[in-house]
Amino acid sequence: MRGVVLAGGLGSRLYPLTKVTNKHLLPLYDKPMIYYPIETLTNAGIDEVLVVTGGNNAGDFLRLLGNGKEFGLKRIHYAYQEGEGGIAEALGFAEAFAEGQSICVVLGDNIIEKNIIDAVNAYKVQGGGARILLKEVPDPQRFGVPAIEGGKVVRIEEKPKDPKSRYAVTGIYMYDTGVFDIIHDLKPSERGELEITDVNNTYIEAGTLEWSVLDGWWTDAGTIESLLGAGNLVARTGANKLS
Ligand code: DAU
Repeated sequence: MRGVVLAGGLGSRLYPLTKVTNKHLLPLYDKPMIYYPIETLTNAGIDEVLVVTGGNNAGDFLRLLGNGKEFGLKRIHYAYQEGEGGIAEALGFAEAFAEGQSICVVLGDNIIEKNIIDAVNAYKVQGGGARILLKEVPDPQRFGVPAIEGGKVVRIEEKPKDPKSRYAVTGIYMYDTGVFDIIHDLKPSERGELEITDVNNTYIEAGTLEWSVLDGWWTDAGTIESLLGAGNLVARTGANKLS
């Protein structure tokens, strides 16, 4: 399995912090934000990672991450997304990198307390399709939210006014190579983006999406409040713990 960190987008919700740099290069407690999703992948035994970035500061990722040796990576690749065409568009850049293997995708602003080892092992047993990680949150309307019936996720709604569960779909996803055919067929949403929720709903319709609940705390760091909150959580408990 190969890893993909999506670190494109314009980070407009963090403006002016993101006026001259990429959101994922901002400090989150004692490390640049991008370190956390990379460690999420390496902790799960993944040692080949693609970082998809964009905007004006793409070169800074190379200066920061180099050849990935510091993280124990066998190889690190970079891809460039122009503009903000959506999470699924950014993931489309991983097609050549995947080389027919399954992928574990982590959004560059998603920070976790523990690890995803159990979910990755469950995906390997599952043998194809998709697996998402859910986490109970107090404010599901900020996220993708699953409707669950009889233990199956039957639909995911993106930022619903009337959430059908208390769960958020976290920004950690596992896919087989079929994901790239799905992305090729996607149409932009009302906000003009290729949506990862549409990708996941396609797997649900095919009956091949499974889910796990993430252990430990989970947060995004894409708003001023959540960036501060994430830094405080990391300071208090640490992140990406192996047990
Ligand atoms: O954090 C989890 C949530 O992330 C999910 O619950 C939602 O279903 C999912 O749509 C997403 O929602 P956000 O509105 O928080 O996504 P955001 O636009 O903030 O993008 C999150 C990361 O994805 C960002 O840190 C970098 C990457 N991204 C995003 C866009 C729009 C890209 O690489 N390229 C893009 O064009």
